Amino acid sequence: KLKLGVLISGRGSNLQALIDACAAPGFPAEIALVLSNKADAFGLERAAAAGIAIAVVSHRDYPGDKPAFEAAMDVRLREAGVELVCLAGFMRLLSPWFVGRWQDALINIHPSLLPSFKGLDTHERALATGVRFHGCTVHHVRPAMDDGPIIAQAAVPVLPGDDAHRLADRVLEAEHKLYPHAVRLIAEGRARVDGDLVRIDGPAPELATIL
Ligand code: GAR
Repeated sequence: KLKLGVLISGRGSNLQALIDACAAPGFPAEIALVLSNKADAFGLERAAAAGIAIAVVSHRDYPGDKPAFEAAMDVRLREAGVELVCLAGFMRLLSPWFVGRWQDALINIHPSLLPSFKGLDTHERALATGVRFHGCTVHHVRPAMDDGPIIAQAAVPVLPGDDAHRLADRVLEAEHKLYPHAVRLIAEGRARVDGDLVRIDGPAPELATIL
């Protein structure tokens, strides 16, 4: 099974979706370590409840020294035998050094249909823009924020009467299906990075990324 390291900063509902997926028989990945940059992240409790190893590497312990912060995370991940790092609500921008260390083995879930709405407050901005579809993206991480080869996306409608909370809830539900789906594609060797793109192998490659 592919060994995952899940990086979180907070609630950890996407972490929970990965925990649940990994618990299902036949799922081709397992979580080796959950690492948080915040000691009070609720996701740490979820991991502990599932009997998964946890670690806290706080950026506050390395003031002004991002390289040391990231090196400490890197050591923990390598010690745990992690093969694929999954960012799940991890709210620190990673340096080109860290991204390069985990080239093509570092993925992120972002609450928009990239390349639209990079950054924060994606649901507010989707509403303000008037898009009729919104959604989420799992992608390989590159040094630029919310950039990199797209592995999978899920779209949800923007409905009359939506506010940012209602829209966020609808997107989050899709995230919880999409992230395990993307991890499965990678773990099964069916999603390969090819330049700036991810090629999906399978009997119906075009359909393979639709939930
Ligand atoms: C999720 O919506 C995730 O897509 C988003 O933060 C939320 C974390 O929720 N990530 C980002 O905005 C990354 N910049 P969770 O902690 O319950 O999984």
